[in-house]
Amino acid sequence: MRIVPKVAAMQKLARRWKRAGVKIGFVPTMGYLHAGHLSLVREARQRVGKKGVVVVSIYVNPTQFAPTEDLAQYPRDLKRDLKMCHAVGVDIVFTPSDTEMYPGRQNRKSEIGNRKSFSTYVVEENLGRGMEGAARPVHFCGVTTVVAKLFNLVLPDVSVFGQKDFQQAAIIKRMVSDLNFPVQIIVAPTHREPDGLAMSSRNKYLDVEQRAQAVILFHALQAAKNAVVKKSLSAAKLKEDLRRFITAAPLARLDYIEFFDPETLLPVAQVKRGAHMALAVYFGKTRLIDNAQL
Ligand code: PAF
Repeated sequence: MRIVPKVAAMQKLARRWKRAGVKIGFVPTMGYLHAGHLSLVREARQRVGKKGVVVVSIYVNPTQFAPTEDLAQYPRDLKRDLKMCHAVGVDIVFTPSDTEMYPGRQNRKSEIGNRKSFSTYVVEENLGRGMEGAARPVHFCGVTTVVAKLFNLVLPDVSVFGQKDFQQAAIIKRMVSDLNFPVQIIVAPTHREPDGLAMSSRNKYLDVEQRAQAVILFHALQAAKNAVVKKSLSAAKLKEDLRRFITAAPLARLDYIEFFDPETLLPVAQVKRGAHMALAVYFGKTRLIDNAQL
């Protein structure tokens, strides 16, 4: 396994593989890896085969965090991440620094009129409006920008994302289609703890009581699934029932619940089997998300 911290070296390697016809599988991450990430790596390996290469990027991307969010506290443990990557047969771990990824970048305001600063962003204008996009206004622009940059550096044939970030995966697929990136996007199932909590690097922030109650997100998805098995229900009524269900966990503070069409991500007024549900719930300062097809 090779660790590549430099943008130029990553791009040189990727170009060499391309010329040699080697297939490149890519899993972009922000590190603090868990079993969910490793399942994405296994999926990438399966797609490119033994003769292909699997690249994992570890980069906590500042442009997808608002100033009020948890960029500074985001958990980091590169040594542990590298061990995990090695154990699952990753070929390259790309670990760029902020100055490698965004040379000259300060913050968005001071970038205006600053000719030396980083100033090009990728914006998806449709699928990113609701849910996470509404709750975190700068988030998806940062995600699409960094993923576009990573695709240009790693030149993947296939890239694997987790379904836990369903809206993110939909936006990346749209970006790839709209901007003609020659990469296949695979969305792999959400990996869960034995009690059903979706694996996330942010689960680390939870204290013991919060962790015990955090399973309410999974239970709310299950309750919604059961409610629409045989009949369709008004979204407003189902939201209200689930709001009460979730806030029965005393440490839970509901941010949003949405029912939507999985293709357009537009909200539906009537919820039936096959609709998609997503939710975000705070435990203290920690914001957890989850989603499922009903
Ligand atoms: O899902 C994530 O971990 C991040 O949003 C990603 C795709 C690595 C971009 O920074």
